[in-house]
Amino acid sequence: MKIAVVGTGYVGLVTGTCFAETGNTVTCVDIDSNKIAKLERGEITIYEPGLEKIFLRNLKEDRLLFTTDLAEGIKDASIIFLALPTPPGEDGSADLKYVLGVADELGKLIKPDDYKVIVDKSTVPVGTSEKVKAAILKSAAQVLPKDTSLDDALDVVSNPEFLREGVAVEDFMKPDRVVVGSSSEKAKKVIGQLFAPFVRQGNPIIFMDERSAELTKYAANSFLATKISFMNEIAQLCELLGADVDMVRRGIGSDERIGKRFLFPGIGYGGSCFPKDVQALVNSAADVKYDFKILNAVIDVNEKQKLHLLPKIKKYFNNNLKGKHFALWGLAFKPNTDDIREAPALYIINALIKEGATITAFDPEAMNNVRHLIGDKIEYGESQYEALKGADALVIATEWNEFRTPDFLKIVKYLKSKAIFDGRNLFDVAAIHELGFHYESVGRDVAKSTISRGM
Ligand SMILES: NC(=O)c1ccc[n+]([C@@H]2O[C@H](COP(=O)([O-])OP(=O)(O)OC[C@H]3O[C@@H](n4cnc5c(N)ncnc54)[C@H](O)[C@@H]3O)[C@@H](O)[C@H]2O)c1
Repeated sequence: MKIAVVGTGYVGLVTGTCFAETGNTVTCVDIDSNKIAKLERGEITIYEPGLEKIFLRNLKEDRLLFTTDLAEGIKDASIIFLALPTPPGEDGSADLKYVLGVADELGKLIKPDDYKVIVDKSTVPVGTSEKVKAAILKSAAQVLPKDTSLDDALDVVSNPEFLREGVAVEDFMKPDRVVVGSSSEKAKKVIGQLFAPFVRQGNPIIFMDERSAELTKYAANSFLATKISFMNEIAQLCELLGADVDMVRRGIGSDERIGKRFLFPGIGYGGSCFPKDVQALVNSAADVKYDFKILNAVIDVNEKQKLHLLPKIKKYFNNNLKGKHFALWGLAFKPNTDDIREAPALYIINALIKEGATITAFDPEAMNNVRHLIGDKIEYGESQYEALKGADALVIATEWNEFRTPDFLKIVKYLKSKAIFDGRNLFDVAAIHELGFHYESVGRDVAKSTISRGM
């Protein structure tokens, strides 16, 4: 099939590359000419495990093409994916200007005799499919002869994306489920055929109406964010009551109704999706006069959790961080990505600097993005150990694998005081105390922790 993907960011590039990998010819469109030039030269623009290899293969085979020209991109395509940003507007609602802007342009380009399926992959509020179709028809009406309409020439389908950054290729190639929201039998058939190679192992393509599909994406992200904030509150209670959150996590996670995943406490969720999607759902609810109480609490808990380590750090240094220097391991909002959008590490950096401290950070992939954002507000280490040199303490903000079993002798050698503040619960409490560290993490009581991490 011939496919266009409009918006070549995280979702667009993964989507385009994976569709090319199954034999389709895909043209990715973006307004960022630097990005398109790089991609055309074979330079990958995001860090995502496994992506570069299939990107290069499909580029070489001419199944993956790039352009900044929307007209050229969609010319031969029978399916047009929208993978455009839906950032929070001023009040936190999803801003649809990119999606509706492209819809407006499409209206002027699509021909009445050339049926196309427009697939919205962006995370958008309920009712957006209808708005996209209305925007296309409206702008088409300005250029088409009076008695002609695009009404039968297109269907707008909602196909929310559930990939996780860091395992995006795997998620796309073998999705748990594909959600397709459409009331058109013709469009359902086309999209069903396109996704068939990705669900050969029997995972479902779940067809539903457009509105339910749009809400499914927000419900999924909000539920996962709720799990995180719930565990962060349990962790707070553990600290106050002398319980060990690792034990509680294992105790409840073994119950199949609860499940083991997404029960790890930490310093809050970040990234480009959870924060904006949870807020957008709260706003969508408010628009129909529904007060989504649970999600308001989820947001509140998460805001506080980002700075959970700060009082612990301050207490250790007698409430005076002026002139103190910290090594910070981890900048990305989670491991295996260079994405720093809403990363808790950025909040920690701001808070420490505000207290008069300085920082040398290390992250395996995200340092360039942070440099781009805050420049020399902090220093950057060549390696995780280099970042420790001369630091008063180590703060851990992202659970990259290489931080899990570090060389503790080097940590002792380079740190001025043996203090680690761990926002991701990487180390066994008892074991690290045996090494003589002052160690603080999230929701774990020293005396009781004997189990090893990694469940
Ligand atoms: N990143 C994720 O993990 C993820 C997962 C699931 C869903 N989503 C959703 O997918 C959507 C896209 O997210 P993303 O992370 O890929 O965003 P992104 O910011 O990484 O990429 C968006 C791209 O769209 C381009 N763009 C903007 N206006 C354009 C236009 N008029 N024409 C062509 N290109 C244009 C931008 O230049 C950018 O390259 C969002 O709605 C997001 O919520 C993201």
